[in-house]
Amino acid sequence: MRLRFTIIPNSGEKPESSERRRAEMKRGMTILPSVPFVLSFFLILCLFPSAISSSDQLGLESETKTFIVHVSLSQKPLMFQTHHHWYASILRSLPHSPRPSQILYTYQHAVTGFSVRLTHSQAAQIHRLPGILSVIPDQIRHLHTTHTPQFLGLADASGLWPNSDYADDVVIGILDTGIWPERSSFSDSGLSSVPSDWKGICETGPSFPACNKKIIGARAFYKGYEAAIGRPMDESVESKSPRDTEGHGTHTASTAAGAAVKNAGFYQYAVGEARGMATKARIAAYKICWSRGCFDSDILAAMDQAIADGVHVISLSVGANGYAPPYDHDSIAIGAFGAAQKGVLVSCSAGNSGPSPYTAVNIAPWILTVGASTIDREFPADVILGDGRIFGGVSLYSGNPLDGSDLPLVYAADCGSRYCYTGWLDSSKVAGKIVVCDRGGNARVEKGNAVQIAGGVGMIMANTAESGEELIADSHLIPATMVGQIAADKIRDYIQSNPSPTAAIVFRGTVIGRSPAAPKVAAFSSRGPNHLTREILKPDVIAPGVNILAGWTGFTGPTDLDIDPRRVDFNIISGTSMACPHVSGLAALLRKAHPSWSPAALKSALMTTAYNIDNVGKNITDLGTGDKSTPFVHGSGHVDPNRALDPGLVYDMGVNDYVAFLCAVGYDSKRIEIFLRDQSPVDCATQSPSLASPGDLNYPSFSVVFESETDVVSYKRVVTNVGSSVDAIYESKLWSPSTVEISVSPSKLVFSAPNQSLEYTITFSSRSGKDLTATEPAVFGGIEWSDGTHSVRSPIAISWRQSFVYDISSYQSGSNVE
Ligand SMILES: *[C@@H]1O[C@H](CO)[C@@H](O)[C@H](O)[C@H]1NC(C)=O
Ligand SMILES: *[C@@H]1O[C@H](CO)[C@@H](O)[C@H](O)[C@H]1NC(C)=O
Repeated sequence: MRLRFTIIPNSGEKPESSERRRAEMKRGMTILPSVPFVLSFFLILCLFPSAISSSDQLGLESETKTFIVHVSLSQKPLMFQTHHHWYASILRSLPHSPRPSQILYTYQHAVTGFSVRLTHSQAAQIHRLPGILSVIPDQIRHLHTTHTPQFLGLADASGLWPNSDYADDVVIGILDTGIWPERSSFSDSGLSSVPSDWKGICETGPSFPACNKKIIGARAFYKGYEAAIGRPMDESVESKSPRDTEGHGTHTASTAAGAAVKNAGFYQYAVGEARGMATKARIAAYKICWSRGCFDSDILAAMDQAIADGVHVISLSVGANGYAPPYDHDSIAIGAFGAAQKGVLVSCSAGNSGPSPYTAVNIAPWILTVGASTIDREFPADVILGDGRIFGGVSLYSGNPLDGSDLPLVYAADCGSRYCYTGWLDSSKVAGKIVVCDRGGNARVEKGNAVQIAGGVGMIMANTAESGEELIADSHLIPATMVGQIAADKIRDYIQSNPSPTAAIVFRGTVIGRSPAAPKVAAFSSRGPNHLTREILKPDVIAPGVNILAGWTGFTGPTDLDIDPRRVDFNIISGTSMACPHVSGLAALLRKAHPSWSPAALKSALMTTAYNIDNVGKNITDLGTGDKSTPFVHGSGHVDPNRALDPGLVYDMGVNDYVAFLCAVGYDSKRIEIFLRDQSPVDCATQSPSLASPGDLNYPSFSVVFESETDVVSYKRVVTNVGSSVDAIYESKLWSPSTVEISVSPSKLVFSAPNQSLEYTITFSSRSGKDLTATEPAVFGGIEWSDGTHSVRSPIAISWRQSFVYDISSYQSGSNVE
């Protein structure tokens, strides 16, 4: 079997995107599609009320601070020769007490505007002038490059970082495309010597000179690959060594365990300090993915070796193509089982095949399955049409801005190729113009290249129903931005209905804030229900996976396209591949803080402390639907590492529980032997423990499947008190959907001995005849155990066996025709 990376390539569209079922989905929320000019000032002012009002309250009318004024490139009044003249005139027009100071900076590359010290009333006045996009108070910011540590609440002063010594001496095995060891993220400065119990090796050679105290192991597994392609690999296109010639492995390794690097960034974007989750953890790189794929045989060999070498956490941003294969046909599931036996936690990406259901892969219950969500940082690049309407888009374009505003605008479909295939665009129609290209068909960054070859000067990538409002910031080679479908439709309409349509693209750089809210689950993030075992809820958690900055290979450009001559130390990319190493790094920190915990206990801590409310106090949104996300999409929720440090209770499991699970899903001793390998054969009839249903596995979340309209399902769970207090009383709280009655017994757990485990039973009763419509085949609830200090939460997903859903829909169709 061939596997693929779970990355959203900067360069291309994933092959299965055409299968996406988006037709009926509700339209999204990421941007304000058609904000009239004046309203947009207003919104921007609303975002910074404190800065504007604080001096009002204090009465400090003459106090000044630095404001950054973003102006519309296209709205410069004609009477001014240059933008600088315009800005100077703006300042001259202000009341002169105090006199506005000199302009500090004028910005003309990625953003257009200037910065200057102003009083708040002067700032408010500038806001009201035509052509001003925003007036934003300058703020002292912590260096935010990687930014995900801040978003996750990690800090040097308290919480998981200081309580884990940054995972000193914990070894994370990264199974990926190898590593580019010269990147500063892999500096070993300040690290102690290689842990004495480390048994791994560094496969050195001409292409990979040495390891260090950060990268303590590096190996390459290619026998399966070369066997599959039937010849030795072409060493001019890839390196037969642990060296990363693709970029993906360098990115994931530096996300999990990269050292802090000052002055990092991707061109002018996200500039500041970059750091991984676990800055003192050690990296062992196992190269398993090659230019034509990652092969089971190589993956298994690498997992085997990693366990033997003594890694503590395995991070695998790789998964099967299509639906998850049965556990015993899935080398990752098999290898991860072996890892669990040796106390090694395996964290994997869920895949990028969302938003269709049943798409999550790496879903064995002994794997920690990670979906991808957004953070509170964006790279906005707006489209301003000739009629003044502004549409929000995103871009990582880093070259010179468009030369001039109000450039003529054309739709690629009118010029020979709606997707902007290279060589298909009619030069006579696109030369000197901004071209609107539909997303899909070819690689995203290639479209801009096609426009440039045909003489066009800019590109607007326009989403269709296929990708809805999902925006991915790409490092375009020409001035270009991507807009969602709502905006795209309006822009196309404008072109059709206007005799001489024009546009400008304004790059607004890096913006951190609460608008749009974060996290939101990425549309591409693969989701449940669990394709193999409905009774196990997957994915387990979500973590940052959109527009993530981390290290990159020196071998290819940031887009991995041949047309891209650039070489960068850091790159910004998206995918569940980027979410997984965040969680792998967090697991390494937790392991250091709690060395005696099993992998299942570490996973339980991350799951039961996860949150479901975003940074503006609303339920987390699913960008796949624009609606509230569900446990089938976000699992237990977004990881909250500082809370995971002290979860209160854990749902523990060991290998015997997983064997019982395999028995419960019907595996016989022969199939189970694949997992247990050298141990004596298992007889499910006499196996202990034994599970009445796969749902009885001591999992930290619930997925209930009713067989009938009046079914009753009971699951047992055992929780272990890991809180600091031996005498702890936990009381339960339940959230039930209206169609299901949920009860728990006992409803109070009284702990009185160290390390004590107590059992409870949770019972779900389907209430007949209520709301069981085909359009809502699943409902959700939750259970929380709380001792007043800790809250131990588990999501509950409830569905009715599909055949039953069909029955309901068929007899309802008579009365309710849609
Ligand atoms: C989140 O969704 C739940 C379930 O629908 C609802 O009860 C709750 O009020 C919502 N919370 C917020 C903050 O909107
Ligand atoms: C708690 O239980 C775990 C697992 O059963 C065991 O490994 C650990 O040593 C126990 N700790 C104490 C303090 O008893």
